[in-house]
Amino acid sequence: MEQERNKASVRRRLHHVCTATVGATLALVMAGGLVTNTGSALAVPDWPTTFGYNMFTYPPSQWVGGVLYEHTHRLLGSLVGLLTIALLAAAWFWEERSWVRWLTFVALIAVIAQGVLGGMRVVLLRHDLAMVHGSFAQAFFGLLVVLWVVTAPSWDRLGESSATLQGSRLAGSLALVLPAAVYTQIVLGAFLTHRGQALWEHVAGAALVAGLVVVALAWVMRASPETAALRTPVFALAGLVALQLSLGFLAYLWHFTNLHLRLPYQVGLMVLAAHRMTGTLVWGTSLVFALRLARALFRSEGAGWSVKEASKAWT
Ligand code: HEM
Repeated sequence: MEQERNKASVRRRLHHVCTATVGATLALVMAGGLVTNTGSALAVPDWPTTFGYNMFTYPPSQWVGGVLYEHTHRLLGSLVGLLTIALLAAAWFWEERSWVRWLTFVALIAVIAQGVLGGMRVVLLRHDLAMVHGSFAQAFFGLLVVLWVVTAPSWDRLGESSATLQGSRLAGSLALVLPAAVYTQIVLGAFLTHRGQALWEHVAGAALVAGLVVVALAWVMRASPETAALRTPVFALAGLVALQLSLGFLAYLWHFTNLHLRLPYQVGLMVLAAHRMTGTLVWGTSLVFALRLARALFRSEGAGWSVKEASKAWT
């Protein structure tokens, strides 16, 4: 009993490090988006230095205009890098599941690759790399959300519950298709932001995501006894997608009509930032829902997933 309590408290500490890393990465994604929307990507022309300075000693008095956005973005990138190292160390000290420890290692490799990608975009003046950098940032965020979900106390509770789920085949498909559709939508959004292309594909993607969320909501209401663990993310998803559709419409008006001539620049910036923030939250929440659903479907004794149970759940 005592041992179980210690295990839970150590796991909770790891989960707190995950929460901090997810939060800092959300701020970083927002800062990166502001760099794009204000056209500040090349405001600092060198990398990894900042106008020849070590970036940590660059004088705050010179953080003005586009430099403020780009420099803050780089500093937040360093913070996320440090937090990812802390996450790796915490997992290797406190986590007994080896696949979780290795996922933190993948996260560290990913954050290094992301930093180099961002630097190459500046040094090589390659605008196409910015789109890859933006989409990869969201993939990295998704990986952190996976770690956040599997280190949460609800993960163990879901694995231990004996409740049965109705309509498992539909649920299994939702767990795969919903996050895949949301990520595709995010990549289409990056095309739209960086190249002004794929508007109608992005609108069609929005309709698909909204449709899938309605199906998920209906399924959870009807078939799931796992009340809070599945209902909370699906209700959150429904609210976030409704908000996102309205913000998307405003972003469309801003970019593709003459609204930007009639309203102050800051209004547009806020709309675009809110659309990106909500899109990132839709992505993260779709992963929380999908992972918990998969956990509930594939649960078996202890922590492992059993292939036999998985195949039963699908039929
Ligand atoms: C579930 C629905 C949606 C999601 C998840 C989503 C997600 C995103 C994301 C993440 C971006 C920014 C990509 C980046 O810069 O890296 C974006 C950009 C954009 N989206 Fe959406 N979107 C959705 C619906 C819509 C709708 C319905 C419209 C309306 C036409 C729309 C219009 C736009 C526009 C105009 C941009 C470019 C904004 C910019 O330049 O920053 N979106 N979308």
